[in-house]
Amino acid sequence: MAHGHHELAVIVLLLVELLLVSAASCTFLEEDVILGTAAEAATAAARLGSKQGAANASTRRGDTTCIAAAAASASGGGRGRYYVGWKEEIAGMAGRPEMAAWLRVVRRRIHERPELAYEEVETSRLVREELDAMGVGFRHPVARTGVVATVGTGRPPVVALRADMDALPIQEAVEWEHKSKNPGKMHACGHDAHVAMLLGAAKILKAREHLLKGTVRLLFQPAEESGAGAKRMIEGGALEDVEAIFAVHVSHQHPTSVIGSRTGPLLAGCGFFKAIIHGARSAADPVLAAASTIISLQSIVSREADPLDSQVVSVAMVNDNGSDNESEFVMGGTFRAFSNASFYQVRQRIEEVITAQARVHGCEAAVDFFEDQSFYPPTVNDPRMYAHVKAVAGELLGVGAYRDVPPMMGAEDFSFYSQVVPAGFYYIGVRNETLGSVHTGHSPYFMIDEDVLPTGAAFHAAIAERYLAGHSDHDDRDVEFEQESS
Ligand SMILES: *[C@@H]1O[C@H](CO)[C@@H](O)[C@H](O)[C@H]1NC(C)=O
Ligand SMILES: *[C@@H]1O[C@H](CO)[C@@H](O)[C@H](O)[C@H]1NC(C)=O
Ligand SMILES: *[C@@H]1O[C@H](CO)[C@@H](O)[C@H](O)[C@H]1NC(C)=O
Ligand SMILES: *[C@@H]1O[C@H](CO)[C@@H](O)[C@H](O)[C@H]1NC(C)=O
Ligand SMILES: *[C@@H]1O[C@H](CO)[C@@H](O)[C@H](O)[C@H]1NC(C)=O
Repeated sequence: MAHGHHELAVIVLLLVELLLVSAASCTFLEEDVILGTAAEAATAAARLGSKQGAANASTRRGDTTCIAAAAASASGGGRGRYYVGWKEEIAGMAGRPEMAAWLRVVRRRIHERPELAYEEVETSRLVREELDAMGVGFRHPVARTGVVATVGTGRPPVVALRADMDALPIQEAVEWEHKSKNPGKMHACGHDAHVAMLLGAAKILKAREHLLKGTVRLLFQPAEESGAGAKRMIEGGALEDVEAIFAVHVSHQHPTSVIGSRTGPLLAGCGFFKAIIHGARSAADPVLAAASTIISLQSIVSREADPLDSQVVSVAMVNDNGSDNESEFVMGGTFRAFSNASFYQVRQRIEEVITAQARVHGCEAAVDFFEDQSFYPPTVNDPRMYAHVKAVAGELLGVGAYRDVPPMMGAEDFSFYSQVVPAGFYYIGVRNETLGSVHTGHSPYFMIDEDVLPTGAAFHAAIAERYLAGHSDHDDRDVEFEQESS
């Protein structure tokens, strides 16, 4: 959470936190619909580092060849020519038992020490130590605790991969050895896994640096849940020369390692507002003004919005600000929309309705939208980046390991990147009934199936490597090529 704000902000941040932690929360999937249960069979193939298969390198080799064979026959493959064997090599490296073990250790270390927005000091240090150990260069600090690492030629094209590092103000209720040791804080949204998977990708990409046809930028960002860390990262130059960006979020709705995405709007824009209404004349009644304002706000969605363009405006808090000041009334709420235009339009109308209705009753109103903290536009996938995610999922994991998903009312600060460069956001499943990883993000019972980690690392690496291969001007003639269908 951003520092140095006065009392007003603190109270609203409490409101924001309340909303974040409650059902209206940003950044997670609310409906308990299980998508892709038919993909159970594919799940087995999608896993690269499962404990069962991890003991035997030759078995592992057999598995990955099998994955690649399935993938090779899949439709919607990558663009152009690329050398034979990349799938087996990436899957093979990610599937090594020592890789899976290291990924679990990294994830558990982060899980035990969750840190809130802009306080990710230990997490950031862990990231830098691991990058140092693999010989990957980086820039720090960016956006206070953020780290921007680089692998590849150092020349264009540049593709970015992003992981968020912050945890939530939630007390972990899962009893296990690596339970959060920071009271009241928990990685209840899987950002610990996101960091581990991106570090795994860094390791894979570093080992394959000689094959990269451009530069991969790895963004470890602070403050996704609140505080708009992505915005600060962009201001810190994280997207300089970047022509495309990708990120993953774990999802309890999909079986472990199954990938889900969609083209166009994927997650809603999410904003909060707080209005202070006070009497401008002696006879003015701010309570009546507020009551009338709350009613008028209801018609923004019900009477002004296109019914096919989903939007929400919800007043979630009213507070007369204590009995010691009867001439002031405070109210607040949240709003969501799926298109950029509607999101800004709703913001504009909320402000107009509140100030105009207050005036009708002889009051004045000031509206705050917390635009520096929790004002996240919709996350919109570029059709080409969406197609790339889908194609690489088919190639690396097999077509059965990919699902198109419906849009969700949750929000993501990845939207700030998606406003600047073509972006592809996707989910990776962590649902496993046996383990009990079935709880939604932001639940104190949230947990993941750690078998997802090697697959996530491999998928990140493949997304970046294949993107560069498809967007560089020259081919490397030294290696054997295959012509892939597209
Ligand atoms: C690994 O798999 C091969 C082939 O299936 C088998 O011959 C060998 O005994 C296995 N090794 C171990 C350590 O399980
Ligand atoms: C409540 O009113 C007091 C006095 O006007 C003001 O200083 C304070 O900021 C108000 N609190 C909120 C939450 O608006
Ligand atoms: C009560 O609120 C009004 C309007 O915001 C403000 O001008 C006044 O100073 C407040 N009174 C006290 C005692 O805080
Ligand atoms: C979204 O809308 C705002 C306000 O109209 C505008 O400034 C911004 O450029 C828009 N972003 C995109 C990606 O269209
Ligand atoms: C769930 O996890 C257990 C233990 O790791 C594993 O044996 C099982 O195959 C997993 N099930 C699914 C559906 O992934």
